[in-house]
Amino acid sequence: MASPVIVLGIESSCDETAAAVLVDGVLRSNVVASQDVHARWGGVVPELASRAHQEHIVPVVEAALGQAGVDRAALTAIAFTQGPGLIGALLVGTCFARSMAQALGIPLVGVDHMQAHILAHFIRDGNDRPVPRFPFLNLTVSGGHTLLVLVRDYLDMEILGGTVDDAAGEAFDKGAKVLGLPYPGGPLIDRNAVGGDPRKYRLPIPQIPGSDFSFSGIKTAFNGVVQRGAASDPGFVSRELPHLCASLQQSIVDVLLRKVQKTAKQCGVEHIAMSGGVSANSALRMQFDALAHREGWQAHVPPLAYCTDNGAMIAMAGHYLLEAGRTVGLDAVPHTR
Ligand code: KG4
Ligand code: ZN
Repeated sequence: MASPVIVLGIESSCDETAAAVLVDGVLRSNVVASQDVHARWGGVVPELASRAHQEHIVPVVEAALGQAGVDRAALTAIAFTQGPGLIGALLVGTCFARSMAQALGIPLVGVDHMQAHILAHFIRDGNDRPVPRFPFLNLTVSGGHTLLVLVRDYLDMEILGGTVDDAAGEAFDKGAKVLGLPYPGGPLIDRNAVGGDPRKYRLPIPQIPGSDFSFSGIKTAFNGVVQRGAASDPGFVSRELPHLCASLQQSIVDVLLRKVQKTAKQCGVEHIAMSGGVSANSALRMQFDALAHREGWQAHVPPLAYCTDNGAMIAMAGHYLLEAGRTVGLDAVPHTR
């Protein structure tokens, strides 16, 4: 019997140190250490992120191997996030993966973080879920990126659109900051929007051609609403919080879904999919499903644990890249873009 293909995936591009083990393409462990040092700074502080990765990486990898019941000597390959991301953060994962691959004498696989967010749809963990059928359109929405990608095969993807200014996650996080909420603000906007009127504060929907996105107009308008309200009434933000959160959230969802609808029609796809941290947003998930239902499309969104940054998606991408013979040398360096 052939020995199993065992891939260790390591993620360190931003503020999550994560590792996972896949055995023959099936997930055996998925460990994430989040960094709460950034909360009071209103965003990720690159220097603090690098230090936290340095602290977490050994215990996180040990935990992933331990939970999978896999001895490091049995590993077939090590996959790591090569980019995009923060350079200091990427360097920690890259150096660690290079050293471990060298010590074990096994191949190294460099993974593109955004491609991995898309391959998260194919993570198999024992819970049966339908997977998107090729070709499909993927909305990749995270703290750093907003992309529409036509996915023809596991490793055959074409970017059809992106943001011309802020990413969707940034729009959530910056809006939250204006409301005095800590970083990351996206989940807090989501939670506080419950029961709010999403049409109470109308924010301008940008007119950007093609499949591109823009969020800076929404950000500026939202800032204006909050500043004006607070200037005439100190209790404005706390009283209006649900309506403000719901309105901001709805504007971002409107921008995203308009472009999904338009682009999916142009491509003639029957399956639409969404991944990345912002796809954890409850309003976006619900309206994404509703859009697909109206258009007769199949919608796919991975479970929450695979939407935000994780090691499983890096291991999954590593699995397909390894299968295709796409490994990198021990001199691999990170790329920030
Ligand atoms: O994919 P991810 O974990 O990291 C990056 O690659 O950036 O995405 C993080 C982003 C943050 O901006 C965070 O606020 C946002 O995802 N996010 C959410 C929600 N959960 C995470 N935004 C809105 N609603 C949520 N429930
Ligand atoms: Zn990400």
